[in-house]
Amino acid sequence: MGVVGVRYSDLTGKVVVITGGSRGIGAETARAFAHQGAAVAVLGRDRAALDAVADDLRALGVGALGLVADSTDAAALATAAERIGRELGPVDVLAAFAGGDGYPVPTVRETEEHWRSVLDGDLTATFLTVRAFLPGLLERGRGSIVTMASTAGRLPGGSSAAYAVAKAGVLMFTRHLALEVAGQGVRVNAIAPGAVRTERTAGRMPPEVQAAVAAAHPLGRLGEPADIASAALFLASEASAWITGQTLDVSGGRVIV
Ligand SMILES: NC(=O)c1ccc[n+]([C@@H]2O[C@H](COP(=O)([O-])OP(=O)(O)OC[C@H]3O[C@@H](n4cnc5c(N)ncnc54)[C@H](OP(=O)(O)O)[C@@H]3O)[C@@H](O)[C@H]2O)c1
Repeated sequence: MGVVGVRYSDLTGKVVVITGGSRGIGAETARAFAHQGAAVAVLGRDRAALDAVADDLRALGVGALGLVADSTDAAALATAAERIGRELGPVDVLAAFAGGDGYPVPTVRETEEHWRSVLDGDLTATFLTVRAFLPGLLERGRGSIVTMASTAGRLPGGSSAAYAVAKAGVLMFTRHLALEVAGQGVRVNAIAPGAVRTERTAGRMPPEVQAAVAAAHPLGRLGEPADIASAALFLASEASAWITGQTLDVSGGRVIV
């Protein structure tokens, strides 16, 4: 059984790539896939954090790689893709989770530099990540891509406009791509989490703010990284074989559409 208590036997032996795998939601998702017996490559920028996650994964008895690759850097992603193919084998599942920086900024105070960096780090990075791994998936005629959006891309308010636009862009990119590749055996879906308690978000929210944010989610609590990992396993596995182009709102009822 995995960390989330569910067994997807088709994931055993699969090769999974997770960007943003050095910490937070991505690292928890990496552990969840490893518990299913998948080999996992985690990508990020922090060498020490990536090494620590990769060591954890190997301790679970699976193949693992921790690779430094900025997801806004196409060449770095191409190098990582080549190394993963060589050392772990052809990729079956891509979780393009790197991103963040949803901190609220009133638009009147938004700078061009910050706007561009959020669009680059959340939206363009998703495109570049997909472009690096999609050829391999199409070549084999199968695979699952899971992208990372946010409640911020579903409902206005709560983040900067740049982040909301970037995550809404991720959702349309996901739908567009899903339709493009549906006939070629590759499924593409997005997860849109509500507020999830990670080291980063907990560090930014004092307890009273965490309580208020939790109360804004009808199920009455913040999300945990495992809630998102659980959704990623489902979308990666054959359990969701007839699902593509969808947004899975993992938001404690915050988004009900
Ligand atoms: N936590 C939430 O409440 C929440 C809600 C909705 C959506 N999300 C989304 O979920 C994803 C993960 O968030 P998190 O809360 O787990 O954040 P986190 O703990 O800050 O982790 C962010 C991850 O993304 C990586 N990353 C960011 N920019 C990168 C870049 N340019 N190149 C390579 N790696 C990069 C980081 O790698 P390094 O640290 O190694 O650089 C890290 O592994 C993000 O896309 C975020 O927008 C989070």
